[in-house]
Amino acid sequence: MEFQELIGTRRSIRFFDPKRPVEQEKIQKILEACLIASCAVNAHWLRAIVVKRDDIPKAELEKLKNPVQAVVIELAPVHIYFYADLGVVNRVKGSRLRQLVDANIVASTHGWSTKFVDEVVYPMILKPMTESPQYPAMAAFDCGIAACQGLLMAFEQGLGACLTAFTAPIIGAITKPPADWFPLYQLNVGYSLESREAGGQRPRPPFEEQYFLGKYGNPFPRDPKVVEELKKSKMLQAPAPQPGRKEELRRLARQLNLPE
Ligand SMILES: Cc1cc2nc3c(=O)[nH]c(=O)nc-3n(C[C@H](O)[C@H](O)[C@H](O)COP(=O)(O)O)c2cc1C
Repeated sequence: MEFQELIGTRRSIRFFDPKRPVEQEKIQKILEACLIASCAVNAHWLRAIVVKRDDIPKAELEKLKNPVQAVVIELAPVHIYFYADLGVVNRVKGSRLRQLVDANIVASTHGWSTKFVDEVVYPMILKPMTESPQYPAMAAFDCGIAACQGLLMAFEQGLGACLTAFTAPIIGAITKPPADWFPLYQLNVGYSLESREAGGQRPRPPFEEQYFLGKYGNPFPRDPKVVEELKKSKMLQAPAPQPGRKEELRRLARQLNLPE
Protein backbone atom coordinates (compact mmCIF):
# COMPACT_ATOMS: atom_id res chain seq x y z
CA MET A 1 0.00 0.00 0.00
CA GLU A 2 1.21 3.52 -0.70
CA PHE A 3 2.43 5.31 2.43
CA GLN A 4 -0.28 7.97 2.60
CA GLU A 5 -3.04 5.43 2.04
CA LEU A 6 -1.51 3.17 4.68
CA ILE A 7 -1.54 5.80 7.39
CA GLY A 8 -5.04 6.79 6.33
CA THR A 9 -6.34 3.23 6.35
CA ARG A 10 -5.00 2.29 9.77
CA ARG A 11 -7.70 2.08 12.40
CA SER A 12 -7.67 0.74 15.93
CA ILE A 13 -9.16 -2.67 15.24
CA ARG A 14 -11.05 -4.16 18.17
CA PHE A 15 -12.60 -7.23 16.54
CA PHE A 16 -10.20 -9.99 15.54
CA ASP A 17 -10.77 -13.50 14.29
CA PRO A 18 -9.84 -15.15 17.59
CA LYS A 19 -9.06 -18.50 15.97
CA ARG A 20 -6.93 -17.35 13.03
CA PRO A 21 -3.28 -17.43 13.99
CA VAL A 22 -0.84 -14.80 12.78
CA GLU A 23 2.16 -16.02 10.82
CA GLN A 24 5.37 -15.63 12.82
CA GLU A 25 7.08 -13.94 9.87
CA LYS A 26 4.48 -11.16 9.96
CA ILE A 27 5.21 -10.58 13.64
CA GLN A 28 8.90 -10.52 12.85
CA LYS A 29 8.29 -7.87 10.17
CA ILE A 30 6.42 -5.74 12.72
CA LEU A 31 9.41 -5.98 15.06
CA GLU A 32 11.86 -5.29 12.22
CA ALA A 33 9.89 -2.11 11.45
CA CYS A 34 10.21 -1.08 15.10
CA LEU A 35 13.96 -1.73 15.07
CA ILE A 36 14.74 0.58 12.16
CA ALA A 37 12.80 3.53 13.59
CA SER A 38 14.61 6.76 14.28
CA CYS A 39 15.80 6.79 17.87
CA ALA A 40 17.44 9.39 20.03
CA VAL A 41 21.21 8.91 20.46
CA ASN A 42 20.80 5.55 18.73
CA ALA A 43 19.99 4.07 22.15
CA HIS A 44 16.98 1.87 21.23
CA TRP A 45 14.83 1.99 24.34
CA LEU A 46 11.98 -0.05 22.89
CA ARG A 47 11.82 -3.66 24.04
CA ALA A 48 9.03 -6.09 23.28
CA ILE A 49 7.88 -9.48 24.46
CA VAL A 50 5.61 -11.29 22.03
CA VAL A 51 3.11 -13.63 23.62
CA LYS A 52 0.58 -15.83 21.90
CA ARG A 53 -2.73 -15.28 23.69
CA ASP A 54 -3.35 -19.02 23.88
CA ASP A 55 -0.08 -19.51 25.75
CA ILE A 56 -1.40 -17.33 28.57
CA PRO A 57 -3.21 -19.49 31.13
CA LYS A 58 -6.95 -18.70 31.04
CA ALA A 59 -7.05 -17.48 34.64
CA GLU A 60 -4.12 -15.12 33.98
CA LEU A 61 -5.75 -13.77 30.81
CA GLU A 62 -8.81 -12.95 32.92
CA LYS A 63 -6.60 -11.08 35.40
CA LEU A 64 -4.98 -9.13 32.54
CA LYS A 65 -8.30 -7.66 31.50
CA ASN A 66 -9.43 -4.18 32.43
CA PRO A 67 -12.65 -2.42 31.43
CA VAL A 68 -11.14 -0.66 28.40
CA GLN A 69 -9.29 -3.56 26.78
CA ALA A 70 -10.92 -6.81 27.99
CA VAL A 71 -12.54 -7.82 24.70
CA VAL A 72 -9.60 -6.69 22.57
CA ILE A 73 -7.01 -8.77 24.44
CA GLU A 74 -9.37 -11.74 24.52
CA LEU A 75 -9.89 -11.67 20.75
CA ALA A 76 -6.35 -10.83 19.59
CA PRO A 77 -4.30 -14.00 19.00
CA VAL A 78 -1.00 -12.16 19.47
CA HIS A 79 0.02 -9.67 22.15
CA ILE A 80 3.19 -7.65 21.80
CA TYR A 81 4.05 -6.16 25.18
CA PHE A 82 6.11 -3.01 24.77
CA TYR A 83 8.53 -1.70 27.39
CA ALA A 84 11.05 1.11 27.65
CA ASP A 85 14.42 -0.25 28.74
CA LEU A 86 15.33 2.56 31.11
CA GLY A 87 18.70 1.03 31.90
CA VAL A 88 19.98 1.00 28.34
CA VAL A 89 21.77 4.37 28.35
CA ASN A 90 24.00 3.61 31.31
CA ARG A 91 24.54 0.05 30.16
CA VAL A 92 25.75 0.85 26.64
CA LYS A 93 27.48 4.09 27.78
CA GLY A 94 27.62 5.81 24.41
CA SER A 95 28.73 2.71 22.49
CA ARG A 96 25.75 2.95 20.13
CA LEU A 97 26.73 6.52 19.35
CA ARG A 98 30.32 5.41 18.79
CA GLN A 99 28.92 2.94 16.24
CA LEU A 100 27.52 5.93 14.34
CA VAL A 101 30.92 7.62 14.44
CA ASP A 102 32.73 4.44 13.34
CA ALA A 103 30.28 3.95 10.47
CA ASN A 104 30.84 7.55 9.28
CA ILE A 105 27.22 8.48 9.87
CA VAL A 106 27.92 11.32 12.27
CA ALA A 107 31.13 13.06 11.33
CA SER A 108 33.73 15.62 12.39
CA THR A 109 31.89 18.14 10.17
CA HIS A 110 29.32 18.25 12.97
CA GLY A 111 31.80 17.92 15.81
CA TRP A 112 31.52 14.16 16.27
CA SER A 113 34.36 11.84 17.28
CA THR A 114 34.67 8.89 19.64
CA LYS A 115 36.47 11.22 22.08
CA PHE A 116 33.51 13.62 21.91
CA VAL A 117 31.10 10.75 22.69
CA ASP A 118 33.22 9.39 25.56
CA GLU A 119 34.25 12.68 27.14
CA VAL A 120 31.31 14.95 26.44
CA VAL A 121 28.14 13.30 25.16
CA TYR A 122 27.90 10.35 27.53
CA PRO A 123 29.15 11.89 30.80
CA MET A 124 27.81 15.42 30.30
CA ILE A 125 24.56 14.83 28.40
CA LEU A 126 23.37 11.22 28.44
CA LYS A 127 24.16 10.21 32.01
CA PRO A 128 22.60 13.38 33.50
CA MET A 129 19.60 12.83 31.20
CA THR A 130 18.92 9.48 32.88
CA GLU A 131 18.85 11.25 36.24
CA SER A 132 16.36 13.94 35.18
CA PRO A 133 12.65 13.72 36.03
CA GLN A 134 11.86 13.94 32.30
CA TYR A 135 13.85 10.81 31.48
CA PRO A 136 11.00 8.24 31.48
CA ALA A 137 8.91 10.55 29.27
CA MET A 138 11.83 10.98 26.84
CA ALA A 139 12.33 7.24 26.65
CA ALA A 140 8.60 6.65 26.20
CA PHE A 141 8.46 9.19 23.35
CA ASP A 142 11.26 7.33 21.61
CA CYS A 143 9.46 4.01 22.09
CA GLY A 144 6.25 5.48 20.68
CA ILE A 145 8.04 6.36 17.45
CA ALA A 146 9.30 2.79 17.09
CA ALA A 147 6.01 1.17 18.09
CA CYS A 148 4.14 3.30 15.55
CA GLN A 149 6.29 1.90 12.75
CA GLY A 150 5.39 -1.60 13.93
CA LEU A 151 1.73 -0.66 14.12
CA LEU A 152 1.74 0.58 10.53
CA MET A 153 3.63 -2.51 9.41
CA ALA A 154 0.84 -4.68 10.80
CA PHE A 155 -1.65 -2.98 8.48
CA GLU A 156 0.77 -3.08 5.56
CA GLN A 157 0.71 -6.87 5.93
CA GLY A 158 -3.07 -7.13 5.95
CA LEU A 159 -3.39 -7.49 9.70
CA GLY A 160 -5.43 -5.47 12.16
CA ALA A 161 -4.00 -4.06 15.38
CA CYS A 162 -4.86 -1.97 18.40
CA LEU A 163 -2.65 -0.61 21.15
CA THR A 164 -4.04 -1.06 24.65
CA ALA A 165 -3.01 -0.65 28.24
CA PHE A 166 -1.68 -3.71 30.05
CA THR A 167 -1.45 -5.00 33.57
CA ALA A 168 2.30 -5.23 33.99
CA PRO A 169 2.62 -7.35 37.17
CA ILE A 170 0.30 -10.07 35.85
CA ILE A 171 1.94 -10.54 32.45
CA GLY A 172 5.35 -9.89 34.04
CA ALA A 173 4.93 -12.94 36.26
CA ILE A 174 4.79 -15.00 33.06
CA THR A 175 7.25 -13.11 30.83
CA LYS A 176 9.74 -12.03 33.51
CA PRO A 177 11.05 -8.74 32.03
CA PRO A 178 14.07 -7.11 33.73
CA ALA A 179 13.18 -4.82 36.64
CA ASP A 180 14.30 -1.66 34.83
CA TRP A 181 11.96 -2.16 31.88
CA PHE A 182 9.17 0.40 32.17
CA PRO A 183 5.84 -1.04 30.95
CA LEU A 184 4.20 0.96 28.13
CA TYR A 185 1.37 -0.53 26.05
CA GLN A 186 0.57 -3.77 24.33
CA LEU A 187 0.00 -4.10 20.62
CA ASN A 188 -2.82 -6.53 19.95
CA VAL A 189 -2.46 -8.15 16.55
CA GLY A 190 -4.64 -10.44 14.49
CA TYR A 191 -6.78 -10.73 11.40
CA SER A 192 -9.51 -8.12 11.52
CA LEU A 193 -13.14 -9.12 11.33
CA GLU A 194 -14.07 -5.49 10.72
CA SER A 195 -14.50 -4.11 7.22
CA ARG A 196 -11.59 -2.12 5.80
CA GLU A 197 -13.53 1.08 6.58
CA ALA A 198 -14.13 -0.14 10.17
CA GLY A 199 -16.71 2.60 10.66
CA GLY A 200 -14.63 5.37 9.09
CA GLN A 201 -11.71 7.51 10.18
CA ARG A 202 -12.11 8.39 13.81
CA PRO A 203 -13.02 11.85 15.09
CA ARG A 204 -10.10 14.21 15.57
CA PRO A 205 -9.97 17.62 17.23
CA PRO A 206 -9.80 20.58 14.84
CA PHE A 207 -6.37 20.89 13.15
CA GLU A 208 -6.14 24.58 14.07
CA GLU A 209 -6.59 23.82 17.76
CA GLN A 210 -3.69 21.38 17.77
CA TYR A 211 -0.96 23.01 15.73
CA PHE A 212 0.47 26.54 15.66
CA LEU A 213 2.72 28.66 13.50
CA GLY A 214 5.29 30.89 15.15
CA LYS A 215 3.64 31.09 18.53
CA TYR A 216 0.94 29.48 20.59
CA GLY A 217 -2.49 30.86 19.72
CA ASN A 218 -1.63 31.45 16.05
CA PRO A 219 -3.13 28.41 14.30
CA PHE A 220 -1.09 26.75 11.58
CA PRO A 221 -3.18 27.59 8.50
CA ARG A 222 -4.95 24.54 7.07
CA ASP A 223 -4.96 24.92 3.29
CA PRO A 224 -8.10 23.30 1.83
CA LYS A 225 -6.16 22.49 -1.37
CA VAL A 226 -3.78 20.34 0.66
CA VAL A 227 -6.71 18.66 2.37
CA GLU A 228 -8.14 17.81 -1.06
CA GLU A 229 -4.80 16.35 -2.17
CA LEU A 230 -4.70 14.18 0.96
CA LYS A 231 -8.23 12.97 0.26
CA LYS A 232 -7.12 11.96 -3.23
CA SER A 233 -4.12 10.07 -1.87
CA LYS A 234 -6.50 8.36 0.62
CA MET A 235 -4.68 9.62 3.69
CA LEU A 236 -7.81 11.49 4.65
CA GLN A 237 -10.76 9.15 4.37
CA ALA A 238 -14.48 9.26 5.12
CA PRO A 239 -14.92 10.13 8.79
CA ALA A 240 -16.96 8.20 11.33
CA PRO A 241 -19.85 7.77 11.71
CA GLN A 242 -20.32 5.90 8.46
CA PRO A 243 -23.56 4.32 7.28
CA GLY A 244 -23.78 0.59 7.94
CA ARG A 245 -21.50 0.65 10.99
CA LYS A 246 -24.29 -0.19 13.44
CA GLU A 247 -25.22 -3.22 11.33
CA GLU A 248 -21.56 -4.22 11.19
CA LEU A 249 -21.28 -4.02 14.98
CA ARG A 250 -24.44 -6.12 15.34
CA ARG A 251 -23.04 -8.73 12.95
CA LEU A 252 -19.72 -8.83 14.81
CA ALA A 253 -21.48 -9.12 18.18
CA ARG A 254 -23.48 -12.13 16.96
CA GLN A 255 -20.50 -13.74 15.27
CA LEU A 256 -18.33 -13.44 18.39
CA ASN A 257 -21.06 -13.98 20.94
CA LEU A 258 -20.60 -10.54 22.46
CA PRO A 259 -23.30 -8.36 24.00
CA GLU A 260 -25.07 -6.08 21.47
C1 LIG B 1 -0.93 4.42 23.49
C2 LIG B 1 -2.33 4.02 23.14
C3 LIG B 1 -3.09 3.32 24.06
C4 LIG B 1 -4.38 2.91 23.73
N1 LIG B 1 -5.10 2.17 24.64
C5 LIG B 1 -6.32 1.72 24.27
C6 LIG B 1 -7.07 0.88 25.15
O1 LIG B 1 -6.63 0.54 26.26
N2 LIG B 1 -8.26 0.43 24.72
C7 LIG B 1 -8.78 0.74 23.49
O2 LIG B 1 -9.88 0.29 23.16
N3 LIG B 1 -8.09 1.54 22.63
C8 LIG B 1 -6.89 2.03 22.99
N4 LIG B 1 -6.18 2.81 22.12
C9 LIG B 1 -6.74 3.16 20.81
C10 LIG B 1 -7.27 4.59 20.80
O3 LIG B 1 -8.48 4.67 21.48
C11 LIG B 1 -7.41 5.04 19.34
O4 LIG B 1 -6.13 5.09 18.79
C12 LIG B 1 -8.08 6.38 19.16
O5 LIG B 1 -9.42 6.32 19.55
C13 LIG B 1 -8.02 6.85 17.72
O6 LIG B 1 -8.58 5.89 16.85
P1 LIG B 1 -7.75 5.20 15.69
O7 LIG B 1 -6.54 4.54 16.30
O8 LIG B 1 -8.68 4.19 15.08
O9 LIG B 1 -7.36 6.26 14.72
C14 LIG B 1 -4.91 3.23 22.45
C15 LIG B 1 -4.13 3.94 21.52
C16 LIG B 1 -2.85 4.32 21.86
C17 LIG B 1 -2.03 5.07 20.84
